[in-house]
Amino acid sequence: STKAILGVSGSLRQGSTNALLLRAVADRLPSGAVMTVFDGLDDLHHFSPERDADHENGTAVLPAVARWREAIARADAVLISTPEYAFGIPGVLKNALDWAVSTILFDRKPMGVLCASPGFEGGHKAMASLLPTLTALNTHIPEGCSLVISSVRKKMDNEGQVTDAATAEALSRLGAQLVGASE
Ligand code: FNR
Repeated sequence: STKAILGVSGSLRQGSTNALLLRAVADRLPSGAVMTVFDGLDDLHHFSPERDADHENGTAVLPAVARWREAIARADAVLISTPEYAFGIPGVLKNALDWAVSTILFDRKPMGVLCASPGFEGGHKAMASLLPTLTALNTHIPEGCSLVISSVRKKMDNEGQVTDAATAEALSRLGAQLVGASE
């Protein structure tokens, strides 16, 4: 059956290079796999435990949170692409991941991670910051599925097509590995 990949961009910016990279992976997925990009990160409230409904307080799950959790649940694999902000990951992405901590939704979920930055050495610190969180969520990152893409603007054209051959190859491999790891 068709494998469903959920794309998540850590950048809310119009024309985001990270959003373009999700598209680039989607274009290279093996047949029988489809990517849907989640568009609701900006709708999530700031996480706080008392806003996280549970059986004890009996309140309903916030609709934006329910939508996020359903998107993760439906996905066979998740691909995050994120910029580096101040040597870490954007708050909007960390916030979204925090909303999944009380669930088991990411448990052993195949996960790909792209950290793209226009800087020559950019992206490594975002990756170093993100990986422990993904470990806390017990995601499974298959071989070849975490990629730092420094100098990203030199690797794509104005339409967002990846022009750097090595990067294009790595994105194809990432897609294939992620789909291969999906049950
Ligand atoms: C950045 N940028 C950045 N880049 C980097 O390599 N290391 C960093 O620490 C930061 N910090 C940072 C903070 C803030 C507030 C902004 C707005 C930007 C640059 C960033 O990587 C660049 O803008 C990317 O292009 C953003 O990704 P999108 O929006 O194109 O996907």
